[in-house]
Amino acid sequence: MQNILDNPAEILAWYLDAGVDEAMGEAPLDRYALVVKAQAKRAAAAQALLKEAQSEHDGAGQTTGQSGALGRSGPIPVRPADTADVEEALKTAVKLAGESKTLDDLREALDGFDGCGLKKTAMNLVFGDGVPDARIVLIGEAPGADEDRQGVPFVGASGALLDKMLASIDLDRSKVFLSNTVFWRPPGNRSPTGGEIAVCLPFVERLIEIIDPAVLITIGGPASHSLLAQQGSVSRLRGRWFTYETPRMSAPIAASVLYQPTNLLKTPAQKRQAWADLIAIKAKLAQRA
Ligand code: URA
Repeated sequence: MQNILDNPAEILAWYLDAGVDEAMGEAPLDRYALVVKAQAKRAAAAQALLKEAQSEHDGAGQTTGQSGALGRSGPIPVRPADTADVEEALKTAVKLAGESKTLDDLREALDGFDGCGLKKTAMNLVFGDGVPDARIVLIGEAPGADEDRQGVPFVGASGALLDKMLASIDLDRSKVFLSNTVFWRPPGNRSPTGGEIAVCLPFVERLIEIIDPAVLITIGGPASHSLLAQQGSVSRLRGRWFTYETPRMSAPIAASVLYQPTNLLKTPAQKRQAWADLIAIKAKLAQRA
């Protein structure tokens, strides 16, 4: 007698006839436990950011030669962060973000939030750009000078490149939502500090929850490290898919990493990989349609 296991196509056809059209694991999946695990991982990442703020505080008066998203380099004085202030600001941020029901509420809450030192030196709040029902949210590092002047993320040369990258997969700002890990420009375009990212994180997370997209893309290292709780260089993180979820989202979403357009302008050799990443994003969006 023929063994049905010898013919997998027949088994699949039988399953389809029976109405089974979705692949599932053999063991039941405890989605609640997964959310709790993801939360614990992000809480650990937030703790690491606070620790970073502590060492910024301990190293007060030092300078850093770190170059920010907009590619300027040279030693920039780092404003010492007071960890007690950061913890207090974080509590306020969690409360304000949690109470926001819409993107307008969230923008208004940020407008009234004084817990991020960057606000003092910035010209404008750079909240975000795009549509509230976007199926894809992209989070970059920090606003630069052009963004600060216009109050809009990803303008100037890197914004023009990002627009071209999006256009290559049939996306534009009428279909996406763009924002950053911090909502004000770090002075001199330095990278945002751990404390600055930590106090803005509840707002970024709430922004993603409110939009509830199908796909989240982090652009560059700081966004990838803080939102995906992953470590390592962008070249190691890109090309992979992660899961992003919070208890207030309807379902876990797919998340991946893109190179910072500013870096692509400086290192065109990475464009080939960025192109492959864009194709993968397009396929993921089609899959989640
Ligand atoms: N412009 C932004 O708004 N964010 C970045 O990360 C880079 C440029």
